[in-house]
Amino acid sequence: MTLSQQIELTVNGRRRSVDAAPHHTLLDVLRDDLGLTGTKECCLVGECGACTVLIDDRSVDSCLVLAVEADGSEVTTVEGLAVDGQLSRLQQAFLDTGAAQCGFCIPGQLVAAHALLSTTPRPSRAEAEEGLAGNLCRCAGYEQIIEAVLLAAESGPATTPRRSVREAVDVAAQPDAGVAPQ
Ligand code: FES
Ligand code: FES
Repeated sequence: MTLSQQIELTVNGRRRSVDAAPHHTLLDVLRDDLGLTGTKECCLVGECGACTVLIDDRSVDSCLVLAVEADGSEVTTVEGLAVDGQLSRLQQAFLDTGAAQCGFCIPGQLVAAHALLSTTPRPSRAEAEEGLAGNLCRCAGYEQIIEAVLLAAESGPATTPRRSVREAVDVAAQPDAGVAPQ
C-alpha cells in the first residue's frame, strides 16, 4: 500500500492542495494532478531542462524534486509567465526570433530565461548562454533562443506584457506548431 500525503502548493499564484504519493515528483503533480502540461516530461534525470519550473523563484528541474519536498512552496510554471492574459516581453521575444521549432524545450527555456532575467536583467551573451546551459534543444535552436533572451533584455523588463495569449494561441495553431510533442 502506498501512503499518500496531502501537500499544499501555491502554483502560479493559486493555492492548490494535492494528495501526493511519496515517490511522485513535482513534475508528476504538475502534469497529472494539476493538468499543467506546459511543463514537459523528457529525460527524467535532470539532464535536459524540459521540466524546468521556479520554486520560490529558484529555477529547478521538477523531475528531480519529490512532490512532498515542495510542500508549502510557491511554484511558477510556464503557464504562470503571462500576466493578465498578456505575453511577457520574453515570451514575445521568443516568437519574434522564431526560437520555437518543434517547441518541446521552449517552456523550460522560457522559465530558465525568466529566472535569469529576474536576477540579471541585462545579461551578456556569455551570461545568457550560461543561464540556459541546463536546457537542451534537440532542434539545436540555441542561436535564436539566446537572441530572444538578449532581445527581451534590451526591450525592457522581461515580464512586461506585450501581446495577448489569444494572439499567441493563434500563432501556435499554425501548421509548424502542430508537430510539438506533448
Ligand atoms: S525531464 Fe527533467 S531534466 Fe529532463
Ligand atoms: S525547439 Fe527545442 S527541442 Fe525543438
